[in-house]
Amino acid sequence: MPEKSENPKIQALRDKKVQSRQGGGAERIEKQHQKGRLTARERLDLLLDKGSYREVDSFVEHRSSDFGTDKNKFLGDSVTTGWGTINNRLVYVFSQDFTVFGGSLGEVHAEKVVKIMDMALKNGAPIIGINDSGGARIQEGVVSLGGYADIFLRNTLSSGVIPQISVIMGPCAGGAVYSPAITDFIFMVRGSSFMFITGPEVVKTVTHEEVTFEELGGADVHAEKSGVCHIVADTEANTLFLVRKLLSYLPQNNMEDPPFVPTEDSSLRVEPALDTIIPDDPSKPYDIKEVISLLVDEGEFYEIQEGFAQNIVVGFARLGGHSIGIVANQPAFLAGVLDIDSSEKAGRFVRFCDSFNIPLLTFVDVPGFLPGVEQEHGGIIRSGAKLLYAFSEATVPKITLITRKAYGGAYDVMSSKHIRGDINLAWPSAEIAVMGPEGAVNIIFRKELQKAKNPDKKRAELVADYREKFANPYIAASRGYIDDIIEPSSTRARLINGLEMLSNKRDKNPGKKHGNIPL
Ligand code: HXC
Repeated sequence: MPEKSENPKIQALRDKKVQSRQGGGAERIEKQHQKGRLTARERLDLLLDKGSYREVDSFVEHRSSDFGTDKNKFLGDSVTTGWGTINNRLVYVFSQDFTVFGGSLGEVHAEKVVKIMDMALKNGAPIIGINDSGGARIQEGVVSLGGYADIFLRNTLSSGVIPQISVIMGPCAGGAVYSPAITDFIFMVRGSSFMFITGPEVVKTVTHEEVTFEELGGADVHAEKSGVCHIVADTEANTLFLVRKLLSYLPQNNMEDPPFVPTEDSSLRVEPALDTIIPDDPSKPYDIKEVISLLVDEGEFYEIQEGFAQNIVVGFARLGGHSIGIVANQPAFLAGVLDIDSSEKAGRFVRFCDSFNIPLLTFVDVPGFLPGVEQEHGGIIRSGAKLLYAFSEATVPKITLITRKAYGGAYDVMSSKHIRGDINLAWPSAEIAVMGPEGAVNIIFRKELQKAKNPDKKRAELVADYREKFANPYIAASRGYIDDIIEPSSTRARLINGLEMLSNKRDKNPGKKHGNIPL
């Protein structure tokens, strides 16, 4: 509470500011707290550097009069907007205030958000929106819908120019979900946030399915099944901490490089454990995340969409202080196969990194695309093409390391030399071929196997022969598709050297309005 001023005009101003900060009043704030949720401004206190928040438009009030709303006005209406810093770097923010009309979006709420989005785009800094809202303000009708569309347009125009982050901390329903959906990253709080196009009541009427809020659109559902949510945490405070951390890997806008963070971790560090991490039996899994953490600075990996399509791993880390985006097949889950979900997950991540000048490091251990009627009918052709397109169009530095299998079309897709991989490395355990030995032998030696007295023995011999000839990195290296075959323990030094060698890389795609990625 500010001190009393002798000057009545200054005192009146102070009173108004205090009133504005109280949103919908003590009773509604208490209700919000009882639900285990913070208020819009308390959340910003946790998100931003202490004392850095500069609020604007705290005197804005709605102009509606229908349904008696003219007797119910709140200074600042149902959203607080402004800017502040995170680790001393500028960000723009809006935070919906559930204590005022349930955080619902009417004309002036939309105007405030639009104003701050325009400032973020013009001044080239990230925008973070904290969503906690009952959706379109029912009393204001179509004006609310117009307000949403004004925001959607700005989300789209800002895409690829400034990082956009959505934090869902309460309800986010109906068409309102489409603003977060266009942004780059969606954070959710387990047990207290939900997103859906139509709620459980409507679902019951239309499809006769009975489902709770949590089952329909809770954080875990979106983090594991739909892939809508990128990061989930248990509390609001942890969620906001993770937002701060994410920003440390990102540049302010598409014209800047990501921040360099000096590290004590030696760029020449040798990691003998990597020499034995690949099992002798090629059908045995290992955890690619162990490989990643042995290689990156201080073993720190910021994973995105950890629970969704776990057969591919994506996220941010640093190598020698440089921010990188990692895409890695995960042999420990579905043998690291590429399917619809993993292709889309990785494709979107690659495009984010390329938009924001974040070099890509790709780890390859992939047996191919997942066979099956469900995958074919679900459009694996379309989805696989998205990942191929994303890697092909990316012009950021691209380093690829094949740790084991690189079979079939998946070899091409996973940032191969042919689609502008800058440095393509392999470990001696790499197997680069059109398909795995068993499948290949069954096809090319079908007749011999039918004629053989002992087909199993014959098959085993042929498989061993094929493995010897093709399941290695040397044929690809002899053609220059692989630049070098390296000892696993020395990988960190090679990657950092490669990254620094590529730091002035310039590459361009042909001029065009935009490409037509197979959506
Ligand atoms: C105006 C709203 C509101 C809304 C909530 N309130 N939603 N006011 N417009 N959309 C008000 C309530 O009247 C109440 O006011 C206060 O906010 C808190 O609401 P409660 O219902 O008491 O809170 P709770 O029990 O926590 O329930 C939260 C809720 C529920 C699940 C969000 O309020 C709800 O179902 N609201 C309606 C959601 C909805 O159908 N919205 C329209 C969706 S369509 P008082 O004065 O009592 O505190 C849409 C289209 C967008 O959004 C299209 C974009 C293209």
